[in-house]
Parts: sequence; C-alpha cells; structure tokens
Amino acid sequence: MGKRKLQHFAENKTFRHVIEPTSDEMLNDRFSLKGKWGEEFFGNANPIVLELGCGKGEYSVGMGRLYPEKNFIGVDIKGARIWRGAKTVQEDAIPNVAFLRTRIDFITSAFGPEEVSEIWLTFSDPMIGQSENRRLTSRIFIERYLKILRPGGIIKLKSDSDFLTEYTLEQIEGHGYRLLEVSRDVYGEMERFNPELQQLLNIRTHYEKKWLAEGKKINFCAFVP
Ligand SMILES: C[S@@+](CC[C@H](N)C(=O)[O-])C[C@H]1O[C@@H](n2cnc3c(N)ncnc32)[C@H](O)[C@@H]1O
Repeated sequence: MGKRKLQHFAENKTFRHVIEPTSDEMLNDRFSLKGKWGEEFFGNANPIVLELGCGKGEYSVGMGRLYPEKNFIGVDIKGARIWRGAKTVQEDAIPNVAFLRTRIDFITSAFGPEEVSEIWLTFSDPMIGQSENRRLTSRIFIERYLKILRPGGIIKLKSDSDFLTEYTLEQIEGHGYRLLEVSRDVYGEMERFNPELQQLLNIRTHYEKKWLAEGKKINFCAFVP
C-alpha cells in the first residue's frame, strides 16, 4: 500500500466526522450510533440524508454547504476516497457532514428505522456481469433502505450508466415504486427541473467529471420505494 494512502487512513482516524465501525459492530448489530445520529453525533434533530457509494463525497460536502439545516452522511468502503471529502469538512469546518466507512450491505446496522430522510446514489457501479444482488438499486438493497428510510423517503440516482438506469427503472416498475422524475440527459434538460433540484444536479462528482469529459450524457431518476 502506498505511503499517501496510509497517511490518509491514519488521518481519517483523527477526524471526529469519519466513523469507521468494526466488523463486529456491523455484523452483530452493536453500533452505538444506530438510531442516535441526530442526538449523539450531530446534536440536533435535523433530517439525515445519505450519499451511498460517496467516493470522495462531493455530494455530501456540496449538499452540506447548501443546506445547513440538514445533516449529510457519505458512506463508502474506501477510506482513501472518503479522506478527500473528510479533509474538506475539516478544513472548512462544515458541522453537518460526516462520513461512514462501511459496506452499504450493512446499512441497517448503521441506521435505525426511519432515521434517514433521503438517499442519493451517485455514479454507483453498474456491476455489469456480476450478481444482481450487488447492485445498489437491486431489490435486496432497496429492502434494506426501506428499513431505515422515513415513510415517503426519496431515493435519487445520478448515473452515467444507461444499463444501471434502465435496470433501476425496471425495478421501480416491477415492484410498484413511485417514479417521481427521470432524465436521460440532466445537463441538456436542466431547465426542466425546479431551481432547487437544478442547484443539486449541478454538483459534479469525481467520476462524473470523467464521464462528462468523455462526452457521456448523465441520467437521473428519483423514486419513492
Ligand atoms: C464509481 S464509484 C463513484 C464514487 C463517487 N460517488 C463519484 O461519483 O465520484 C462507486 C463507489 O461506490 C463504492 N461502493 C460500491 N459498492 C459498495 C458497497 N457495497 N459498500 C460500500 N461502498 C461501495 C466504491 O467503493 C466506490 O467508491
């Protein structure tokens, strides 16, 4: 492992806003912040929004700056990526953004029933040719999200992948989820969205910038499971 990566892992441990639960806490449902993020971590009862597969956390940080009255938690298993967003949160003293280093598969060990208001999935891996159950919009993951989302909580997918978007739309239709919005060209259709959503959709992630540079169109869909 590179020296930089090791430094970033070490620095993550010094950040109060980077939480790295142990396997025991996740596997045996012993994580002490579960159901208590507002009260014990943020010190308020504001809505909690998750960015799953956050990578460097551009959405968590960007939304955190735009909405001080909400709390944002970026979740990813890769500590070196999380470090980037966490460093910005530290340097800019952003009080309403945290990062959780864990597998999203264990999300129901990290949050209690109805603890989460909204979920963003930003440029999730489409997992083409891999088990469907690894896709973050598969039935198995949506069932997990339903256990932590408040009633009516929205899931938003921003993606470069036509495959993952079509797959997600099939899941929405097949399982009777409520589709709120769909676009296959976010930047080409920006004026369609209300000003608040436009502001959110204009946040660009690390992967997104790569795809945009290659001329790819960006998809977006929002639904209530
Ligand atoms: C293609 S990257 C996108 C990262 C970031 N959202 C962006 O747009 O730049 C997908 C991210 O999801 C994370 N990821 C995928 N499956 C995961 C899982 N089951 N648990 C935790 N993280 C996962 C990967 O580690 C990776 O950082």
